Amino acid sequence: MTTLQEEFLRTFHAAHPAVTVRAMAHGKTADGRSSYELLRDRVSECDRVLDLGCGDGLLLELLAARPAGAPSMLAGLDLSAEELALARPRPGLAAADLRPGRAQQLPFADGWFDGCLSHMALMLMSEVEQVAAEVARVLAPGGVLAVVLGAGAAGGEACESFLRLARPLFEAAPAAQRIPPLGGPRLRTREGFDAVFRPAGFAPAEWETVRIDLTGPPEQVWRTVGAYYDLGPLDPAVTADLRARFEAESAAMALPDGRVPCGMKVHVAMAVRGRGA
Ligand SMILES: C[S@@+](CC[C@H](N)C(=O)[O-])C[C@H]1O[C@@H](n2cnc3c(N)ncnc32)[C@H](O)[C@@H]1O
Repeated sequence: MTTLQEEFLRTFHAAHPAVTVRAMAHGKTADGRSSYELLRDRVSECDRVLDLGCGDGLLLELLAARPAGAPSMLAGLDLSAEELALARPRPGLAAADLRPGRAQQLPFADGWFDGCLSHMALMLMSEVEQVAAEVARVLAPGGVLAVVLGAGAAGGEACESFLRLARPLFEAAPAAQRIPPLGGPRLRTREGFDAVFRPAGFAPAEWETVRIDLTGPPEQVWRTVGAYYDLGPLDPAVTADLRARFEAESAAMALPDGRVPCGMKVHVAMAVRGRGA
């Protein structure tokens, strides 16, 4: 059953396909990898990999081009037909199995994959126990689940200043301009993640919180913060005023080369499906 949240996500991504890649693909962790590359490397041993909420297919394309050789099977699933339409023509994905659908009801056979990834998508999903059960079902025993989950703004930089300016506007918006609650708080902590995935048959997760450096020219930083879902339904005049105030604050914190310091945190969780699940 499609939820109100999923209707919102479909509509938003139809209007803004590739929004997450434009916001985050240039980001760098401390070792110079993007958050997409970081996930790619979590399944370097896997040969049949699924990307849940694959968006425009960037992560799948990175897997297809990985130094160790492409997995023999790549699959992606997303609610958004418009995102999948951007994934299909990617040169590395000619043979990938890209399907529209819901992570709560995966159209794949039991034990089909030995790796499952998800970048900035799992924490948006409703009925997460159902998603966990489905991921456990399609992963073979010993299969790996690795996910990147949003963890908020890094302190003292542009993302934090954006949220300080934007939150009161999001809260004051009329009901018709507010987004439905997306996901829940449980996937924001290791304990919550384990409480969802352990009953589905996963071992306790490895968990780390990583800063992604998204510093860039002012237009790039606006593309990053402008990916907040809450901006979607907001009155365009309110958004324009927010942008002007944000750019004034950002200019005051700009580096000598004009770039604006910006960072966000993500949780990286990895869990292995037990052999008895
Ligand atoms: C923030 S975007 C991330 C897209 C992509 N993984 C990336 O990082 O570039 C979240 C994606 O998850 C998809 N999504 C959200 N809930 C979903 C669900 N229940 N089943 C399948 N896809 C879902 C959305 O349609 C959207 O494309």
